[in-house]
Amino acid sequence: MSELRLLPMAIRDLNEVLAIEQRAHIAPWTQVQFMDSLNAGHWAYTLRVLGTEDAPDTLVGYCVMMPGVDEISLLNIAIDPIHQRQGWAKKILLVMEDQATAKNFQKIFLEVRTSNTPAIGLYQRMNYQQVGSRKAYYPMHEGQREDALVMMKELLRS
Ligand SMILES: CC(C)(COP(=O)(O)OP(=O)(O)OC[C@H]1O[C@@H](n2cnc3c(N)ncnc32)[C@H](O)[C@@H]1OP(=O)(O)O)[C@@H](O)C(=O)NCCC(=O)NCCS
Repeated sequence: MSELRLLPMAIRDLNEVLAIEQRAHIAPWTQVQFMDSLNAGHWAYTLRVLGTEDAPDTLVGYCVMMPGVDEISLLNIAIDPIHQRQGWAKKILLVMEDQATAKNFQKIFLEVRTSNTPAIGLYQRMNYQQVGSRKAYYPMHEGQREDALVMMKELLRS
């Protein structure tokens, strides 16, 4: 059984992160955007399958969250397409939600493209509610724009 680790994202991870970013997203983040997030102290984590003597470490996915005052925003989450639909995004988000709850954040907010069925499915499955929408929020091909759904989850303290 392979060992999985959620680890803070570091600059040395960025080549692998950018490769997944290119494969996973319609409008991928640039290296500068990841660097800005790391420099700003955003919560950025990678999910890795640890290597063995015969096989190197593999990056499965990552997420970036921006802490606010009472709320925290999910800025980016991606799972390498070859590892999708195996529960990894759900696992990362559950850990992030626990961490946010422990740090007394009350809500998580996110934006998602209206066409992004997998991500909307993930968030609905994890009990995020649509609380708004943003007209022409995301760039698309050939100068077109796409609306975003704004979704939110209240974090429950035990
Ligand atoms: C969205 C994304 C992060 C989901 O990652 P994942 O690891 O495949 O998701 P999980 O396996 O944890 O799925 C958890 C639940 O989400 C929902 N879901 C995930 N992929 C789905 C799909 N393609 N269609 C419908 N629902 C989906 C399901 O309810 C799933 O539970 P189930 O497999 O038991 O039915 C992944 O598709 C991705 O990286 N997409 C590209 C980047 C992106 O769009 N990020 C979000 C930006 S807002």
